[in-house]
Amino acid sequence: MTIEVKQVDFFEEGFGVEPVSLLGIGEKARALDLESEAGYWDETVAEIAADKGKLAQLTDPAVEIKSPYADILRGYDLAEAPAVLDVGCGPLSILGRSLDGRRVDLVGADPLSDAYGRILERNGIERPFRPVQCGAEDLTDHFAPDSFDFVYSCNALDHCADPGLAIRQMLSVCKPGRHVVFEVCMNEAVNAAYTGLHQWNFTTLDDHVLLWNPGQSVLLDHIVGGLPYRVAMLEHPKQNKKYRGVLQVTVKKLDETDFVRFDSGVSAAYNGDEGYVTIRDEGAYDPVFPCFYHGLKGSEMTASNVFRWYGDVRMRSFQLPPGETERVRIGQFDFNEPDPKTRNLWIEVAH
Ligand SMILES: C[S@@+](CC[C@H](N)C(=O)[O-])C[C@H]1O[C@@H](n2cnc3c(N)ncnc32)[C@H](O)[C@@H]1O
Repeated sequence: MTIEVKQVDFFEEGFGVEPVSLLGIGEKARALDLESEAGYWDETVAEIAADKGKLAQLTDPAVEIKSPYADILRGYDLAEAPAVLDVGCGPLSILGRSLDGRRVDLVGADPLSDAYGRILERNGIERPFRPVQCGAEDLTDHFAPDSFDFVYSCNALDHCADPGLAIRQMLSVCKPGRHVVFEVCMNEAVNAAYTGLHQWNFTTLDDHVLLWNPGQSVLLDHIVGGLPYRVAMLEHPKQNKKYRGVLQVTVKKLDETDFVRFDSGVSAAYNGDEGYVTIRDEGAYDPVFPCFYHGLKGSEMTASNVFRWYGDVRMRSFQLPPGETERVRIGQFDFNEPDPKTRNLWIEVAH
């Protein structure tokens, strides 16, 4: 008997399968999973169409945007209708379409937008927002930078092939000084046993958010380049041992005018409403040694972190509760010296 060993190119031989890696599903598998997502919504939209109350909640232009999102929008100085983007909005955005009786300019982006359009048409439902066929990873192909007052996503970022890129894209199209908010179920890929589009988990790690799967993990702090964010844990609709909650993450896209510049290339911003200090180091520093910050009240240390800057973005945010005054000492260790000496600076936050 002879055995022939042959190198086979699956794609050219037309086996129609694509290798699936733990680092993300292949393109063909993803297309199939999107198709099954559309199938799920085909049935769900028919159910919505038959339920007048639910249908009105999702289509009536007068339905108000709920808190806390409405409160975020009310905090802005808005001359005209706020421009709002719902990313991975599904067939009918759940966000609401009015703010204190005034219509908001709502755009819904979803890679299945065209398919949803056909499903809605079959059910005689008109979309009460402007739909755009687009994945979260491609937002800047469709929208100019700094376009929206509020960028939102519910239960969709963990469906993305690259949620880190998706979040950066959401920040790109958000106006400076405004917010990106997303909600994701805790560890949804684990809950779904890595089936379908669920290939990414979001979880908390101390006060931080971690994106992970068996192949990789990355802190949200790194993805957002050190911008301040806060996390709230909401109850999952099925809350139990498996479904442990929903993370609601609010990221502030800081405005240049928020920063106060110090000598030596360091600038800092204090976000009093949300209770964050952000420091940015644009000066020369030694990439070999770690940086630190300490919050100090007299001789008591109230906050402490040792870190490295994220790549080229040398920015870091940490919590300082609203109304509290603190002296923050930032600097860089130099292990050749007995005391930290480089870029050693006090920032006093007063109200
Ligand atoms: C569970 S549904 C959530 C729909 C809606 N946000 C809601 O909460 O009812 C997930 C949505 O994410 C969309 N999705 C899948 N991949 C995406 C991507 N790369 N970018 C944005 N949305 C995506 C799906 O098409 C689907 O409409």
